[in-house]
Order: sequence, then structure tokens, then C-alpha cells
Amino acid sequence: MRVLGIETSCDETGAAVVENGSIVLSNVVASQHEVHRMYGGVVPELASRAHSENIFPVLNAALAGAGLKAPEIDAIAVGHRPGLIGSLLVGVAAAKTLAWSLSRPLLGVDHVHAHLYAGMLRTDRSAIPDDGGLFPALGLVVSGGHTSIYLLRSWLEYERLGATIDDALGEAYDKVATILGIEFPGGPNLDKLACEAGAVDCIADLPISRLSPTSLDFSFSGLKTAMLYEVKGVPEHPAHKRPESRYSPPPPLDEARRRDLAATFQRAASRTVLLKLERAIVQLRERGNAVRSLLTGGGVTANSRLRRELISFAGTHKIALRLPELGYCVDNAAMIAGLGYEQLRAGRVHNLSLEPIPTTAC
Ligand code: KG4
Ligand code: ZN
Repeated sequence: MRVLGIETSCDETGAAVVENGSIVLSNVVASQHEVHRMYGGVVPELASRAHSENIFPVLNAALAGAGLKAPEIDAIAVGHRPGLIGSLLVGVAAAKTLAWSLSRPLLGVDHVHAHLYAGMLRTDRSAIPDDGGLFPALGLVVSGGHTSIYLLRSWLEYERLGATIDDALGEAYDKVATILGIEFPGGPNLDKLACEAGAVDCIADLPISRLSPTSLDFSFSGLKTAMLYEVKGVPEHPAHKRPESRYSPPPPLDEARRRDLAATFQRAASRTVLLKLERAIVQLRERGNAVRSLLTGGGVTANSRLRRELISFAGTHKIALRLPELGYCVDNAAMIAGLGYEQLRAGRVHNLSLEPIPTTAC
């Protein structure tokens, strides 16, 4: 069974062909980084225009990469929520057109849930993961737009246990990279800097947000502000001028300090995530839902430190871990095709009234 996946929720135009939910026959992504670089963020109108220009070349490249003609595709899956409405519209219109003209089933897929499927994708046929015994599963999505923890009872049943109340983790990475004067793309470049030889990851006492003692929500705005103060100093306050004040402005941001602050931030960011996962696993056990696996996805699962810590967490708790291969962490259409396949198997098929929706299902 070959599913063609389409992804246009934000600033990547993606198309992919996935066989039986796991084997990626092709995965094409046209990035719009250059279109948005000068604005320092994604401009929705420019994104949808670029999707319209890219969608046909990307679809053709995905079919050619898989060595298939359109009629050899068994179903069409599209990320129809959440995302920028004008961007989603392009992918949904393309998917409906293909589904109608080829008389194939149409599958509307939730992009955030699809990130959790990314750990099932393989390019190598000999390494197909087994999803028997994964559920109930704990799910972690850490991307540029979302940071959430889920309980999954199957690939089709999601309960959101917590989510960020302000910035998403990827967004915090990108903003902190800007504060540190790190070049775009911020998250991956901050990661590289933090991994440089000699980096010290404890040069500042950064806040680890816990929220209430039982909360599974995240907050990264305090961590981001603390980094701003480490770099620029706290805003001047009359108390700083008193003789007893112990306030001293931060040292200049030379190369070594920039690298060490990147490593220190990365440590605090990972600790915040791991703390919430730890809480979630305990709370679920108390509710009688001892989880059998940890499913992860989203751009920040490409982060080297977080990957190491997730592996160690799963080892400690003796649960299976699905950590996406690096190419499937960030937005891609293969994850849409993969989860679409599971929906198809369960008969959860849409008709041509499928609509783009800006918010996630849960
Ligand atoms: O999943 P994704 O492609 O887009 C959304 O669905 O939002 O995630 C993009 C985010 C960006 O914020 C990017 O900076 C971050 O993932 N990211 C990273 C790394 N690679 C990508 N953050 C930290 N370390 C990385 N290695
Ligand atoms: Zn995403």
C-alpha cells in the first residue's frame, strides 16, 4: 500500500511516498528559508504563494523519486491541521484534486500527531520498526510551533496531557539564538555551538520552569528572558546604584561566553523537558496507564543533547523509544503519509469536504 503524503502547514512544501506506513520511497522538501530570512520569521502571505509555486514540482519530484506514476498511488494523505490557513489551503486543494482525479481515498492528517509517527519511518527496508507493544505510549512533540505531551492509546487515540503556555521549545531556541547573535537557522546553529569542544554548560543559574507541582504544561518565556539578562544585563533599577547592591553587569559576549551560554541554555531546556516527562510517567502509572514506549518528534528532537537525554530516559524507565531519524525530525510529508496509512487501515477516510483548520485536534 503506497500513500502519497502532502505537507504545506508552514514554510516547507513537502511531498513523499511511503509504503505500508514505514518505508519511505521518496521524501521531497522545498524549504522557503530564503524567502523569509530577511523578515526574521515566516510571512504567511509569502509562504502560501511559495507553496503554490512549489507544489507541482515537489509532487512530481516525489513520484519520480519513488519511480511511480500517479495512478500507482493507493491513497492521498495531507496535513490539514494545524498551520497557517493560506499554506494549508494549498496542500488541501492539491490533495483533493489528486484524490478526486485518481479516485483514491483522501486522508486528512493532524500535523502535530504526525510528528509522533516520524520515529516509525525508515529509508532502509531491513530496519522496519515493529509497532506491536508500543501502546499505551507517552508522546512528546517539540517543534517550532508546538511543545506538548500526549498519552496515545493507539495511532488514532490521543489525549493531550500538557502543552506550552507561551513559547514552543523550537521558538525559544530560535529567539535565544537571536539574542546570542547566532546566524539563522537559530536552533540547529545553537546546538552546533553548544557542542563545540570546551563548552561549559553551567555558567549561569537558569530557571527550570515547573509551573504547579503536578503540571505537565511547559513554559519557556522565563528561560528566554533569563538568557536575555545574561547577555544584555537586567534593565537598570535604582536599587543597583545603592552601595549595598551586589548587581554587576554581565561580562562581554566573547566567543567563549557565547558558546558556554549556548551550552548552558541547552542544558536548561533539556532539563525542563525531561522533568515533565518524568512527571508524566509517574502520573500515568498512578492512573493505571503504565506506558510501554516513548514516541517523540518535531524539529527539536534533532537536538543532540535532547536526543542523548531521551535515550537515557527511555533506558532508565525500560520503555521502547521511537526517536525519528534526523531527516524526519523537522517538517516533512513522509510522517503525514505514515500516519495517513494508519488512518486508512482503520477506515478513517475523508471526503472532498475536508477543510484546512488552523488549530490541532488536541
Ligand atoms: O518541526 P519543525 O520543522 O516545525 C514545526 O512544526 O514547528 O521544527 C522547527 C524547529 C525550529 O524552531 C528549529 O530551530 C528547531 O526545530 N530545531 C532545532 C534543531 N533543529 C531544528 N532546535 C534545537 N536543536 C536542533 N538541532
Ligand atoms: Zn511541525
